[in-house]
Amino acid sequence: MVSSFTHPIILGLLWATILISIATSMSTAEQSPLESEAKAVLESGWWNGYSNDTSQRCKWPGISCNFAGIITEIDLSDRGLGGNIPPGIGDLSALEYLDLSNCDLSGELPTSLGNLSLLHFLGLSRNYIHGPIPSALGQLTNLRTLSLAGNQINGSIPSALGQLTNLQILNLAYNQLEGSIPSALGQLTNLQYLYLYDNQLEGSIPQEIEKLKNLRVLAITNNSFIGHDIPLLLCHLTKLEHINLGLNQFTGSIPSCLCNLEALFSLYLSQNRLIGSIPSCVGNLYNLTFLDLHSNQLQGSIPSDIGNLEALISLDLSQNRLNGSIPSQIAMLHRLSELNLTFNQLSGYVPNLYATKLLIVDNSNDCYKIYPDPFEGNKALSPCMNSLVTNNATNNKSPPYIKICLPIAIFYTFSILGCLFFSRVKANNKPAGGRPTKNGDICSIWNYDGKIAYEDIIAATEDFDFRYCIGVGGYGSVYRAQLPCGKVVALKKLHRLEAENPAFDKSFRNEIKFLTEIRHRNIVKLHGFCLHRRSMFLIYEYMEKGSLFYNLRDEVEAVEMDWTKRIEIIKGMAHVLSYLHHDCTPPIVHRDISSNNVLLNSSFQAFVADFGTARMLDLDSSNHTILVGTRGYIAPELAYTMVVTEKCDVYSFGVVALETLMGKHPEEVLSWLPSPSSLVNTKLIDVLDNCLPLPTSQLVAQNLVHVATLIFACLNQRPKLRPTMKEVCKEFLSRQTSLNVPLRMISLFQLVKHEMHIGESSDTCNV
Ligand SMILES: *[C@@H]1O[C@H](CO)[C@@H](O)[C@H](O)[C@H]1NC(C)=O
Ligand SMILES: *[C@@H]1O[C@H](CO)[C@@H](O)[C@H](O)[C@H]1NC(C)=O
Ligand SMILES: *[C@@H]1O[C@H](CO)[C@@H](O)[C@H](O)[C@H]1NC(C)=O
Ligand SMILES: *[C@@H]1O[C@H](CO)[C@@H](O)[C@H](O)[C@H]1NC(C)=O
Ligand SMILES: *[C@@H]1O[C@H](CO)[C@@H](O)[C@H](O)[C@H]1NC(C)=O
Ligand SMILES: *[C@@H]1O[C@H](CO)[C@@H](O)[C@H](O)[C@H]1NC(C)=O
Ligand SMILES: *[C@@H]1O[C@H](CO)[C@@H](O)[C@H](O)[C@H]1NC(C)=O
Ligand SMILES: *[C@@H]1O[C@H](CO)[C@@H](O)[C@H](O)[C@H]1NC(C)=O
Ligand SMILES: *[C@@H]1O[C@H](CO)[C@@H](O)[C@H](O)[C@H]1NC(C)=O
Ligand SMILES: *[C@@H]1O[C@H](CO)[C@@H](O)[C@H](O)[C@H]1NC(C)=O
Repeated sequence: MVSSFTHPIILGLLWATILISIATSMSTAEQSPLESEAKAVLESGWWNGYSNDTSQRCKWPGISCNFAGIITEIDLSDRGLGGNIPPGIGDLSALEYLDLSNCDLSGELPTSLGNLSLLHFLGLSRNYIHGPIPSALGQLTNLRTLSLAGNQINGSIPSALGQLTNLQILNLAYNQLEGSIPSALGQLTNLQYLYLYDNQLEGSIPQEIEKLKNLRVLAITNNSFIGHDIPLLLCHLTKLEHINLGLNQFTGSIPSCLCNLEALFSLYLSQNRLIGSIPSCVGNLYNLTFLDLHSNQLQGSIPSDIGNLEALISLDLSQNRLNGSIPSQIAMLHRLSELNLTFNQLSGYVPNLYATKLLIVDNSNDCYKIYPDPFEGNKALSPCMNSLVTNNATNNKSPPYIKICLPIAIFYTFSILGCLFFSRVKANNKPAGGRPTKNGDICSIWNYDGKIAYEDIIAATEDFDFRYCIGVGGYGSVYRAQLPCGKVVALKKLHRLEAENPAFDKSFRNEIKFLTEIRHRNIVKLHGFCLHRRSMFLIYEYMEKGSLFYNLRDEVEAVEMDWTKRIEIIKGMAHVLSYLHHDCTPPIVHRDISSNNVLLNSSFQAFVADFGTARMLDLDSSNHTILVGTRGYIAPELAYTMVVTEKCDVYSFGVVALETLMGKHPEEVLSWLPSPSSLVNTKLIDVLDNCLPLPTSQLVAQNLVHVATLIFACLNQRPKLRPTMKEVCKEFLSRQTSLNVPLRMISLFQLVKHEMHIGESSDTCNV
């Protein structure tokens, strides 16, 4: 341990000495690298008012240095720097990482950026940068991520970018770029993500694109690209998962070879001038989740093989010239929750749909209708369904977690990501609230007989009579409702006034978005929702015991919750968070873990609820945030960094877990943590919930100490030093050493210093 630590330090010092001596020897002739670096940071003005003492620059905010004291990373994202990118930036020749996203920067991109030859990350998105992309950027051959999205950059894409052969992410979206895609981009054989949407690019897609064998995302929507037969070359890019060519001027037909792209999750070809029919082989795309071909001139009938697309969540074929009848196989699509076949020339009858996710609101006179009507504008079509398909089998057919998380990733790529990029623009124009959803009002209840509808909910609660109310919060009330089938559900209903508040509306929709797609045995299940302006409610699995907060404070329940149950509750929460952070791509952060948002079923199993503020952490979007969460549970760094990371949840988890052991909010203990020496005189047993007798079993005592050690690691003031939730879960499984000190002797100080946990993998908490 000791030797492995000192080694790099000695090496580093050696290097520093060598470098400094080189630097001094050079300084006679011209300015040394260190001097020009100091000059560059001073001239940038970005640390003005912070310090003028450049010798201390490695300690300035957003700067990281190597052992030689040379700057290697600058991350000032989300700080309102204003001003320009100074040409002197090119003198920071050791820079590997430069993130100035969302910094209110204006001016042009200086050519000297091309001197930063070690750079592997360059993020300048969401600023007010104008002018061209300098060809000199082509010299940054180590670059893996280049993001200039959301600026006012004009001119054409320089061919020189083709030299960036290590590039994995190229994001030039939402600028004013013109001209065509240079064929040299075909040399970017490592490229995985290509975002060029919302520009004024034109011409056809160059043949060379077919060399981008690693491409997973191609998003070039909202340009003026042309091309006949949706470029056949895409058929060679077999790793493509998301194709968005919408809102361009592509002509010709959809080639059947697209059906070979087996990894495809979303295909958006809407708002082009496509003719011909939908290839029947589309049924081969087993992973296809979003299919949007709306506003083209497609003819012929809807292929019946569309019924093979088991993963399909959204199908939009509206505004085409499709004729014939709607294939009854559509009824097989049990995950479908958005369907739009409006304004075609469809005839015959609407098939009896699998109505679990698409709610049927009007079921009078044996005529079932979906609202809003996805069949409107088809003159020869009878819009009535005479019965509904229900199938109990699908409930058990829960797909593996990762598969369920992926659809969110797509939503994210194409809608949320867009919203994030433009949030600033929008914020200036409109009050908060996000884009109006495509469907406006929707109601959807599933898992049960599709006939259970709005009316049953109203009947079960006598129109939300207060007698059925089991809780009231700032947003609205929670009701308990027994459905005609006997099943008891919980309803969370927004108060009328709150329903008109865009913030509550947004949080409701956010909750729906997450809970419909993520599944975990310790995450509360959503059975349905109703988003009528008149009445907005969510329908959940009913949790007999209510919140953890309530149970800890109820004399009877608190005693019922013995140490073993409490440890199980803590483990249940940890598993959920580990799942959200590590098994979902992109990772999901809950952001509001509190004892109120952890519910217990009748056997005291913990269920995490309330995803109203949850969000995804994406590779290339800002993780900047406004402060949300519950007071007393929010990680201390959030207040000043405003950057959300998984580690914020880890801290909140620590607070709830400690509260579970203490039986009350650990306010006082938390206030001692910044100066741990104050913990020397506090024993663990002094803070444990005195509703419960101390554990008599040595094993339980040992578990308690083990869990408490992990909790204090999670409460570390410095986010980087907190373990990840995955590490926490791994720790739960690790072999423990037995306690060699009596429980009553153990102080909080020892727990904070990990002195009590000397197990084999104790290092994981020290990372
Ligand atoms: C840095 O120098 C400038 C001008 O030399 C001065 O106005 C400013 O107050 C100084 N800032 C600090 C923090 O010393
Ligand atoms: C830095 O960039 C400028 C402008 O591109 C160039 O003139 C100069 O030679 C470069 N300096 C070095 C050390 O590469
Ligand atoms: C880019 O925009 C500027 C104005 O911001 C304009 O003067 C310049 O001609 C534009 N360049 C191109 C290539 O369109
Ligand atoms: C298309 O992109 C431009 C920016 O280049 C943007 O202003 C416009 O809103 C986009 N159109 C749509 C429909 O998204
Ligand atoms: C379909 O999706 C699953 C889950 O993401 C993935 O494992 C599988 O490889 C995909 N199929 C293809 C052909 O890419
Ligand atoms: C659908 O349209 C195609 C041509 O547009 C025509 O050949 C075919 O007969 C039509 N089918 C029906 C059922 O109307
Ligand atoms: C269907 O899409 C059209 C635009 O193509 C939109 O105006 C309409 O509201 C959508 N209807 C449904 C039911 O989603
Ligand atoms: C659905 O469940 C009912 C009773 O729960 C059963 O009678 C029926 O056979 C099931 N249907 C299918 C398709 O499994
Ligand atoms: C409580 O939840 C756990 C985990 O989902 C489950 O295994 C258990 O059966 C539930 N208990 C009851 C009584 O429903
Ligand atoms: C946001 O967080 C995720 C997960 O930690 C990370 O992969 C991503 O790089 C972050 N984004 C930025 C722009 O820092």
